[in-house]
Amino acid sequence: MIRQPIVTVLGHVDHGKTKFLDKIRGTTVAEKEAGAITQHIGATIMPIEIIKMIAGGLMEKYGFKVDLPGLLFIDTPGHAAFTSLRERGGSIADLAVLIVDLTQGVQEQTVEAINILREFKTPFIVGANKIDLIFGWGSKPGEFSKNLKEQSERGKSALDEKVYILVGKLHELGFQSERFDRCTDFTKQVPIVPMSAKTGEGMPEMLMLLAGLSQRFLRNSLSIDENEPGRGTILEVKEEKGLGKTIDVILYSGMLSVNDKIALGGKHGVIETKIRALLMPKPLHEIRTNGMDKFLNVKTVHAAVGVKIAAPNLNDALAGSPVLAVKNGNEAGIIAKEIAAVKAETNAIGPILKADTLGALEALIVLLKKETGLAPKKADVGDVTRKDIVEAAAVKECDPLKAIVLAFNVRVEDAALQESEKTGVRIFHGNVIYKIIEEYNEWANGQTQKSRNAKLCKVCLPVKIQFMRGFIFRHSKPAIIGVKVLEGKLRPGAKLINRSGVAVGRVDAMQIQGKSIEQGCKGQEIAVSVDNGVVGRNLNENDVLYGVIPRKHFQELLELHDCFNSDELELIEEIKKLQEKAAEEEGTE
Ligand code: GTP
Ligand code: MG
Repeated sequence: MIRQPIVTVLGHVDHGKTKFLDKIRGTTVAEKEAGAITQHIGATIMPIEIIKMIAGGLMEKYGFKVDLPGLLFIDTPGHAAFTSLRERGGSIADLAVLIVDLTQGVQEQTVEAINILREFKTPFIVGANKIDLIFGWGSKPGEFSKNLKEQSERGKSALDEKVYILVGKLHELGFQSERFDRCTDFTKQVPIVPMSAKTGEGMPEMLMLLAGLSQRFLRNSLSIDENEPGRGTILEVKEEKGLGKTIDVILYSGMLSVNDKIALGGKHGVIETKIRALLMPKPLHEIRTNGMDKFLNVKTVHAAVGVKIAAPNLNDALAGSPVLAVKNGNEAGIIAKEIAAVKAETNAIGPILKADTLGALEALIVLLKKETGLAPKKADVGDVTRKDIVEAAAVKECDPLKAIVLAFNVRVEDAALQESEKTGVRIFHGNVIYKIIEEYNEWANGQTQKSRNAKLCKVCLPVKIQFMRGFIFRHSKPAIIGVKVLEGKLRPGAKLINRSGVAVGRVDAMQIQGKSIEQGCKGQEIAVSVDNGVVGRNLNENDVLYGVIPRKHFQELLELHDCFNSDELELIEEIKKLQEKAAEEEGTE
C-alpha cells in the first residue's frame, strides 16, 4: 500500500503557516468536499480527489500522473516541533513547505528551518506568501499563472523584485531556487510558488507541485504494510484535562490499536505502557454541537496519521522519541539504542548540550558539528542544571574554549547560574539554534584573539632597523641614536644584534618627537637608547640591526603566523639563519 507523503509546513512566526493550511482545508473547497478532509492531531489529510479538483488541469499541464492517496500535512508551531519529526538522523517529513512572508523575506526562523531541512536532507517547496500585500498586485483566488496574465507591469516587476531577493537569500544558504514556472529542473532547483493564504491565489500550483513532485521523486519510499506493528514519532507531550499526560504521535508506518503495548523514549529511559485510548479531533461541526469533549475515541489507526495516545506512565515521555508497538519484545532495546545514538555521554573534550526535545538535541548536535567541528562531551534533554556546569568546568583545564554549555529552548536553573558565575563557564542559550552557535563562535573567536594578543605581547617580535646617519644624540651609557624601522615592529626590551650576529645592546627607551612610545612600526623614525651600545665601537652609522629571537620563541611565532605579513615572516627566517650562523661560528672558534 502507498501511504500519503508527510508534508510539514514550516517557516517564521506569523508568516502564514496555519492560514495556508486553513485555506486549503476550508474555503478552497466547498463545504461538502471539505468533509473528506480529515483533521488529525497536528496533521490533516488532503485526499487526492480534492487535490485533483483544485489542481487537476495543472497536473496534466505539468505531466504529473498521481496515484497517491493524498497528502498528510503537518503544521508546526515553530521549528522546535519540526525537529521532533525526527527519525534516525533524518526527518519523517517526506517533503516540506517553507512559508516565507514576501513582505518580510527570510527571517531568523526561516534560516533555522532551511539549515535543518538541509541537514536532514528534506526536499522543500517555498510558499512565497502574502502576495496580496504586494503593492500593485491584484490578488484573487485560483491559479497564480492565470492571475499573472492580468497584472500590470508594475505589479509583475514588484513581485519579481521580491522573488529575486528570496532567490538570493536561498542561494546564500546553499540552495538554487527559481519561481516554479521558470524552473528547468525540479531536482536541482527549489520551486518558489507565489501565493496568498488570504485570497487563495497560488494554492492550485502549490498542491499540484506537492502531489506531483512526491509522486515523481518519493513514491518508492512510500510503500508500507499498514497492518504491521506501528512505528511513529512523538510530536508533542501534552497535559489533557481528564486524561493526564498524553502524547501526540505521527504514525508513519503500520497500525496501532487500543490495548496495544507500546514502547517509547522517556527522560529517564524507555517507557513501556499500554494504550488506553486513541483520540482524534472531532469534526468541526461536532465540536460546535457537543463542546464538552473535543476528541473522538477510535479503536485502531493506520499510517500515515496523527493521533493522540492516552496511556499510563507518560509523564516523562520525550518529544522526538520513536514510538513502537511491542510485538517481538525487542522494541524497548531498539528505542534505547536509538536514543543513546542521539544522547551523548563521552570523554570527549567538548561542550555540554541541552535541548527541550530529542529532535532539537539532534539538530543542535548536527549543526554544531557542521559549523564548528565540535562533538559534545554530553548531550541531553532537559533544563541546564548545576551538574551540567560542573561537568563543563572539568573541561576547562584541557580547553577553556570548550568548557561551555549550549542550551536550546530550556530553562537555566538558578543553581546552574550561580555555578556558572563561580566557575566562569559560559552558557549560550536561546530558541534559535544557529544563533546560539553564532554567539558561541563569536565569543570563542574573541577569546582566541585575546589569548593571541596576550601571546603577541610576550613574544619577541621580528624587527630590522637601521642606524640613521647623523642621528647621534649620545655616544654611550646609554647610547642614544636615531633609527628607522625597516621591517617588523620595535619594542623596548629588544636585544639587538648586527649583521654578523654580534650583540650590540638592548633597546631601553623609545621616543618619537620627544614622546615615549611602546612600539615602532615599519617606516617610523625613532630615537632609541641602547644599553651597552657605544657609538663608534659596536654601533656605527648606517648599521643594520636585528632584534634577537630566543630559540623557544620561534615555535610561538609559528603558531601566531597569521598575525604577520609575508615580509615579516621572511624576516623571521632571516633572523633565524643569522642567529644559527653566529652560533656555528662561535662553536668553531
Ligand atoms: P505561528 O503559528 O505563530 O508561527 O504563525 P503562522 O505562520 O501559522 O501564521 P498565521 O497563519 O497564524 O498567520 C499570521 C497572520 O498573517 C495572520 O493574521 C494571518 O491572517 C496573516 N496572513 C497569513 N497569510 C496571509 C496572506 O497571504 N495575506 C495576508 N494579507 N495576510 C496573511
Ligand atoms: Mg501557526
